[in-house]
Amino acid sequence: LARGATVPDLAGRRVVVTAGGTREPLDPVRYLGNRSSGKQGYALARTAAARGARVTLIEANTQLPDPAGVDMVHIGTAIQLREAVLKAAADADVVVMAAAVADFRPSEYATGKIKKKDGREPAPISLVRNPDILAELSADRPRADQVVVGFAAETDDVLANGREKLRRKGCDLLVVNEVGERRTFGAEENEAVVLAADGGETPVPYGPKEALADTVWDLVLQRLG
Ligand code: CTP
Ligand code: CA
Repeated sequence: LARGATVPDLAGRRVVVTAGGTREPLDPVRYLGNRSSGKQGYALARTAAARGARVTLIEANTQLPDPAGVDMVHIGTAIQLREAVLKAAADADVVVMAAAVADFRPSEYATGKIKKKDGREPAPISLVRNPDILAELSADRPRADQVVVGFAAETDDVLANGREKLRRKGCDLLVVNEVGERRTFGAEENEAVVLAADGGETPVPYGPKEALADTVWDLVLQRLG
């Protein structure tokens, strides 16, 4: 972190980071959401800014204060996130998708509050797939030399799942963490393995989310022209 403040090795670079979790509305008062706190994405934005990058932080439903020296975009849903990412990515050197994107959204939005009906069971909620922003961006980069980074929380065979996901998404780096027990959601610390499309594998020991963020930026730097 001290080195981040002293070595502006991302100076002149434009980076886009997404953070938080999308919420998919059912009606004006209810949504489908997830438990992403946004802390890892904010740590990525802060460390990139400290290292001299021009940072756009696209935020979804966190309770976190805007970091200083960062351009903020506040969005709510996966569709809004996609629009904001594709727009910001147009002139970015790096895009890091740390946000948890809801895989599905309700197929219909009720413009009025859904009410109980006397004695009747509720109607099932039908869902449709959201667009895969990371896969779309990786396949269709606005700049050939853009570096694209994804995140994945996995259980069971974490590394095998991560490798398969990295291939499927087509990104350059995938930060894989194991979820469960004390780990990840809302925590101040994180442990991960960063998988690279070129076969690289960088373990990051349990520690502050800033330390993982700095490792991600180190690996990104190696891949920037
Ligand atoms: N992601 C995305 N758009 C989606 C879903 C995920 O851009 N609709 C991004 C996330 O921001 C993250 C990466 O893809 O960087 C991996 O997310 P994850 O949920 O692990 O991937 P999925 O393909 O949705 O796989 P799973 O079925 O395991 O949830
Ligand atoms: Ca998912």
